[in-house]
Amino acid sequence: MNKRLNILRTPAERKSADWRMAAPSLVEDVLRGLQSTPKRLSPTYLYDERGSQLFDQICELPEYYVTRTETGILAGNAREIAGCIGDDALLVELGSGASTKTRLLLDQLPDLAGYVPVDISRSHLIAAAQRISAAYPHLEVLPACADFTQQFPLPKPSRPYSRVVVYFPGSTIGNFDTSPAIDLLRVMRLLAGAGGALVIGFDLVKDRAILERAYDDSAGITASFNLNVLRRLNRELGANFDVSRFGHRAVWVPAANRIEMHLVSRIAQEVSIAGETLSFAKDEALITEHCHKYTCASFAAQAGAAGWQAQRTWTDAQRYFNVQYLEQRP
Ligand code: AVI
Repeated sequence: MNKRLNILRTPAERKSADWRMAAPSLVEDVLRGLQSTPKRLSPTYLYDERGSQLFDQICELPEYYVTRTETGILAGNAREIAGCIGDDALLVELGSGASTKTRLLLDQLPDLAGYVPVDISRSHLIAAAQRISAAYPHLEVLPACADFTQQFPLPKPSRPYSRVVVYFPGSTIGNFDTSPAIDLLRVMRLLAGAGGALVIGFDLVKDRAILERAYDDSAGITASFNLNVLRRLNRELGANFDVSRFGHRAVWVPAANRIEMHLVSRIAQEVSIAGETLSFAKDEALITEHCHKYTCASFAAQAGAAGWQAQRTWTDAQRYFNVQYLEQRP
């Protein structure tokens, strides 16, 4: 059994729980990925402090329709979505980050039994939970610091609750390949428990040019976001990547219904990292992220494999994005 951390520090944090697993070593994981064929890095490494700032900028880009489209769907249908969640539920948001979009739902849910933002980054989690508490003084906010891909115990609100509703916006599910995505949807079922439900946002398959532009914007912010992972490895693992010798590529792979983000080696080169020397051929791609896009049928198949069934769906006029309310199949 992995050891779980439970760190309750200051009084301001006393309602929060820390259930992060003891982290696997960064160096081992990175080397394993860079020594495999094709070379790969976990997309989670894109999100250091600088990467998170760049991702916030991506969300504002004209080409990156994802955030504003989902926000539009939530804003236009918040009352109905809140109606599905219902009074007295415990709302559990996975990967809550700044909890910005959640406010659209919280505004319509004055009788929630509690709100549990879940995030791996403790400082961001506590800061966001404090902002939500200040904005919704009657809401019990119970932050949980956890890797949401693993099951963790839910904090108990002081009021009894009718059921658990998991909220997973942002098409973050799309950053998981099919089998890990099904595993994650199963973890959500276990978290929700009997009678629990799920509200999830996911991106839809669309025109290739629109998709590739969204991940290769004209201002070069997504390129900086992608290349930043090499700077992180230089800083944290003493690697010697020359960032100018790699280029950003975002390519739509129709057979897998996903955008693949790559870092492409401009020349044949060697890089040293943690005492190992790695060779890159000219034009060799290092995969840094998969961004899966779905049809309603393909998402239903994935969710169905984890025991979920859509009860309500909402989309935008262009059918770019989908928000769904799902319940567990009997
Ligand atoms: C976080 N995730 C949903 C983003 C996406 O669209 O897959 C990550 C991202 N990568 C590049 N741009 C945005």
